[in-house]
Amino acid sequence: MSASDRSAPSETPDLRNFSGPLVLVGAGKMGGALIDGWLRFGLDAGKLVVLEPQPSPQISALASRGGRLNPDVRALIDVAAIVVAVKPQIAGEALPSLAPMIGAATLVVSIMAGRTLRFLSGALQRPCALVRAMPNTPAAIGRGITVAVAQRASAAQRELAYRLLSATGAVEWIEDEALMDAVTAVSGSGPAYVFLLAEALAQAGAAAGLPPHLAEKLARETIAGSGELLRRSPLEPATLRENVTSPGGTTAAALKVLMGEKGLADLMKTAIAAATRRSRELAG
Ligand SMILES: NC(=O)c1ccc[n+]([C@@H]2O[C@H](COP(=O)([O-])OP(=O)(O)OC[C@H]3O[C@@H](n4cnc5c(N)ncnc54)[C@H](OP(=O)(O)O)[C@@H]3O)[C@@H](O)[C@H]2O)c1
Repeated sequence: MSASDRSAPSETPDLRNFSGPLVLVGAGKMGGALIDGWLRFGLDAGKLVVLEPQPSPQISALASRGGRLNPDVRALIDVAAIVVAVKPQIAGEALPSLAPMIGAATLVVSIMAGRTLRFLSGALQRPCALVRAMPNTPAAIGRGITVAVAQRASAAQRELAYRLLSATGAVEWIEDEALMDAVTAVSGSGPAYVFLLAEALAQAGAAAGLPPHLAEKLARETIAGSGELLRRSPLEPATLRENVTSPGGTTAAALKVLMGEKGLADLMKTAIAAATRRSRELAG
């Protein structure tokens, strides 16, 4: 693996030959990011059906490229794939209405947080191949990571799910759905921890005497640049950290605090355990 593709998807998804139709249910932030990715990777807009009560101007504009917006679902039979990207709270109302579109070969992919395969299977009211996936917000710029678990899916359907989800970044499969709570805690919620780090670093810089706008810029660029370096480098994070830490130097002085007793590692373990617990509670 080269230094520049350490965490890129193992292959660029190619949707040029996708037979369709592909139905997206809910074209909000995540659904919109998926559509951007699908079109970027060659999906013919004419294969796309979008169900969305309040489409953005960009989604409405798909109609001029052959995309279908809010058609009568009873006219759509045996669709290849349905991707559900509505809020989990409305799943109970939205899923049963999809049943007429589900044929023997239809794959249903859900990105709804906390909605289990068991729940999806019951609410869809038809047996079908299912994939439950958890993306994260860098999907908006094609740099997310999605973790997925499949049920009753053939190899071809898993491959299709992989291609659809890879349109917003890297994809990892798990076999044990119970891991999804820890996945949610680490990568689903993870971007918020990184943004908090940026806030805290900027506040600490201002407290050390920097003008606040400079502290904010230093924090933002340091985190963005370090993230990109981490992504491109073949080195482990610990090695990258050691490489900027001279014995007895300034970095070592700060790391002594951050890595001390009840330091960042302990705090992160407690935070991830709390998020994992909460994910389990919300899934019911
Ligand atoms: N954003 C993230 O970081 C993230 C990360 C992991 C997982 N997810 C999951 O991704 C899903 C979508 O999140 P989001 O942030 O993209 O939410 P969002 O921006 O609110 O998008 C949901 C969209 O679905 C539409 N909708 C509501 N009822 C519908 C129906 N019956 N049929 C079709 N569309 C309907 C909503 O329209 P209205 O606005 O008119 O209600 C909205 O445009 C959620 O289940 C969430 O758990 C999100």
